[in-house]
Amino acid sequence: MAKREKAAFAAGTRFDGLPDALLDWYGRHARTLPWRIGPGERGRGVVPDPYRIWLAEIMLQQTTVPHAVGYFETFTRTWPTVEALASTEDGDVMAAWAGLGYYARARNLLKCAREVAARGSWPKTEAGLRELPGIGPYTAGAVAALAFNERSAAVDGNVDRVFARILAAKGEWKDEKRRIADIVRTLVPEDRPGEFAEALMDLGATVCTPKRPNCLICPIRDWCTAYTEGEPERYPVKPAKKVKPVRYGEVYIVRGASGVVVETRPPQGLLGGMLGLPTTDWREDGAAARLEWIGDAEEIGEVKHVFTHFELRLKVVTVEGRDLVPSDYEFRGEEGVASALPSVFKKALKLAS
Ligand code: ADE
Repeated sequence: MAKREKAAFAAGTRFDGLPDALLDWYGRHARTLPWRIGPGERGRGVVPDPYRIWLAEIMLQQTTVPHAVGYFETFTRTWPTVEALASTEDGDVMAAWAGLGYYARARNLLKCAREVAARGSWPKTEAGLRELPGIGPYTAGAVAALAFNERSAAVDGNVDRVFARILAAKGEWKDEKRRIADIVRTLVPEDRPGEFAEALMDLGATVCTPKRPNCLICPIRDWCTAYTEGEPERYPVKPAKKVKPVRYGEVYIVRGASGVVVETRPPQGLLGGMLGLPTTDWREDGAAARLEWIGDAEEIGEVKHVFTHFELRLKVVTVEGRDLVPSDYEFRGEEGVASALPSVFKKALKLAS
């Protein structure tokens, strides 16, 4: 650290002016998003809907803003309030979540909605939100700031990246993340915590991007050591990612007069509670033996899908003209069922269509 910078840290002035510069930029460049109120609106007494803020946060843990928008609009059109969502059957919500991935999140989403509906209102603090199912430290901080304007910080991977650059953080990534969270908490302005969180999200998404950050338009580059060094893309310096193990199996497209064969997957385990196509176990030591009841079949190709902890490769096997299947399975119309299937099964069905 340069001498001048050290002195600024010591004097507590290193980040003077940064929140204002960021908020000023946000006032001019805020993204318009369907769960958001506009910049300045909180100050004019407009109150964001915590249900929409929360729903967006849960979706955005899973996917990008462009991919989430369609899901968000479908969910809020179908279930405009947390009470409406809470009183919906699990299967309908799981089907609407299909394609967003990580289905434990959809189950927790429902649990959380039901708890809030039972309480009659949302807890309005970070600590209170933390007690709800599926709400971790990041989501609690984000919802408290965005929906209730509490002076909490919402530090996710994007904010980590922005501050890793500002600090030119070269230490152990675990320690640096803690340092970043501590710093961001001190920077949240008293009067505009919600906008501060939104501004950091927008900066991370549109300016301080993982690849080729656009420093020339960055409102806080004067505070950024990585910019001064000239190689912002070097940061964050993270430990190398572990190589994911590969699992193998077969998936079956079994067609009959009344559609395609599906099952409701067991509630525990991967894709739990979701609709699925018949499939073998997924194993690291090679494809499991074909399911006994499949019989005469044709292998038409392979689909790959990357899950959090492993990569899956499934041989796609089709069976035509079958009207009798074991009682754990059922036939569904092929058109309607595709949208309710998790992505890996959607890919298999598409390959067979
Ligand atoms: N990333 C995480 N939460 C977000 C939000 N509410 N708006 C935009 N991007 C986000």
